[in-house]
Amino acid sequence: MEDTSIELKNVMHWKTEMVRFMMAYKFAVEEVSTKISILQQEFQQIHDYNPIEHVKSRVKSPESTFKKVQKKKLPLNLPVIRENIRDIAGIRINCSFVSDIHRVADMLTQQKDITLIEKKDYIQNPKTNGYKSLHLIVQIPIFMSDRVENVYAEIQIRTIAMDFWASLEHKIYYKYNKAIPKSLRDDLRDAAVTANELDERMERIHKEVSQLKEDDHQNGNGEKPIIFPPEFLSMLAENEDKS
Ligand code: GTP
Ligand code: MG
Repeated sequence: MEDTSIELKNVMHWKTEMVRFMMAYKFAVEEVSTKISILQQEFQQIHDYNPIEHVKSRVKSPESTFKKVQKKKLPLNLPVIRENIRDIAGIRINCSFVSDIHRVADMLTQQKDITLIEKKDYIQNPKTNGYKSLHLIVQIPIFMSDRVENVYAEIQIRTIAMDFWASLEHKIYYKYNKAIPKSLRDDLRDAAVTANELDERMERIHKEVSQLKEDDHQNGNGEKPIIFPPEFLSMLAENEDKS
């Protein structure tokens, strides 16, 4: 009888530990997502240009985490998993242009509570299959009721074209465990080159249009400023006094 209650206690303890373990990653994803959302909104409001197209995030499922533990031949022990599997919290940022990627990365890693642990620049050094993306492993403190936990998270930053290629390449390979014929690998690499050409072309157009806008602005031909009627301005001032 006593044995069963000890066992039950152990199970309950293990369950609480697991919930705590997973929760920290959920919070890390939420913290980083909020930071990105602030950047997006601030960019849109202040600079009238938002370099972030969209953001996806996920917490790795216990099943996938377990598979990775086995693949890395790690012991099934929470502190070891916490230290060695650093992509349980994952955030993927899709930027508009290649030049936005490092800007966004710097803006995040310069924040005081984010510690950059590792940077893999597959844009400077693409993988042999053609994969391009900027990977950051960061650590972010999560403040809980009785402790602070420094949680690892993986942030992948890429353009829409890089994401298009990576998502489809992953889909094509997913669950195909045999070697892919060379001709297909070459085809995929060619597709990555095409994606890259599209990125370069879009970046060039973007720069040229920005220059046109700048020239217009300097020649006084920019967008006409909105002239507010005086009664509207006094209404704004009145509201400001009240707040
Ligand atoms: P993992 O054990 O997969 O985490 O590899 P790693 O620790 O060497 O990390 P790396 O930074 O190289 O890759 C981490 C993640 O980037 C992967 O889980 C994928 O989401 C993505 N990734 C890396 N290489 C490729 C690739 O060749 N194709 C695609 N589609 N995604 C990739
Ligand atoms: Mg990884």
